[in-house]
Amino acid sequence: MSSRASRKLDHLNHALVTGQARTHGFEDIRFVHNSIPEQHVDAISLTSQIGELTLSSPIFINAMTGGGGLRTEEINRQLAEVAAETGVGMAVGSQMAALREAGQQQSYRIVRQAHPHGLVFANLGSEATVDQAKKAVEMIEADALQIHVNVIQELVMPEGDRDFRGTWQRITAIVEALDIPVIVKEVGFGMSKETVARLADCGVAAVDIGGFGGTNFSKIENERRERRLAYFDEWGISTTCSLLEAREAKGDIAVIASGGIQTALEMAKSLALGAAACGFAGHFLRVLTESGQDALIAEIRTLQEDLRFLLAALDAESPLQLRDTPLVISGKTFHWAVQRSLT
Ligand code: FNR
Repeated sequence: MSSRASRKLDHLNHALVTGQARTHGFEDIRFVHNSIPEQHVDAISLTSQIGELTLSSPIFINAMTGGGGLRTEEINRQLAEVAAETGVGMAVGSQMAALREAGQQQSYRIVRQAHPHGLVFANLGSEATVDQAKKAVEMIEADALQIHVNVIQELVMPEGDRDFRGTWQRITAIVEALDIPVIVKEVGFGMSKETVARLADCGVAAVDIGGFGGTNFSKIENERRERRLAYFDEWGISTTCSLLEAREAKGDIAVIASGGIQTALEMAKSLALGAAACGFAGHFLRVLTESGQDALIAEIRTLQEDLRFLLAALDAESPLQLRDTPLVISGKTFHWAVQRSLT
């Protein structure tokens, strides 16, 4: 197995052991109860929109695996079958491995094969060129491309990148060259309003704020090092603070919430803070590997049902309507919002 492939397996195994920290800040967000909502649960539509992309519900399976041999191929196939069964979108893991070793392509192509009519997102790191971006999209006939930015992960990764120059130019060139939406995503360290505003100026269709408080790639990479860079373990902008940051950036850019999301209530809070959709990675991986495909299908259906109940309670007939819902922010998220002028 190549070193890249064995790293993918390491990530999968360490992510399952490290788990999600649940320090995303959602406990700081509370809805204001509405005693007399005017909704019928069955009339509520869960349809949402990320720019020009229509989602049947604001849930999608976020980028995880691929290129790590048979185990990751099998997980990708199972995730894609779950996505097809529940009608949710799915992002594949970084395709750089498959661009460098053609033999790895099947573990990504299998996602499109298993989910022929659904939303599928391609995924590459910010070192990707225009040519690589086009090939990654073609490989799986992707509906959008995710470009992940993961500087802290690279720094902690023993064999990670050390030269981060030129990222803005590469992102801009890819946005100009592709005729499908580009999503720039973090991997669990969050995003600031300054970053989101500049990405909007570059023509990026959506940001996935990938907030701190869920899967922690500093801890995962530190497990693979002899000398730990422990100072990065608590580094990053929490999911709720990142959502407030992105909302403040205001440009013409859709916002996707991710980073530790596990429940419908956390989804509803994300939507109320301006997100159009929520990405689930670590939680879905755990349910799939511990309990199997049927359990993950049931989990997604429960999330959808619970979200309908929450929308009804909050008097919203669709996820996007939650943006007008009053909420109260306390604790660390409030402290952050005040100092960053985000309220
Ligand atoms: C990831 N993630 C990820 N992201 C990405 O853009 N490309 C990738 O190849 C991977 N690989 C990957 C592997 C594994 C095993 C996990 C658990 C995660 C990051 C993922 O998409 C997400 O941004 C973070 O995991 C934070 O979300 P959760 O896990 O807290 O929901």
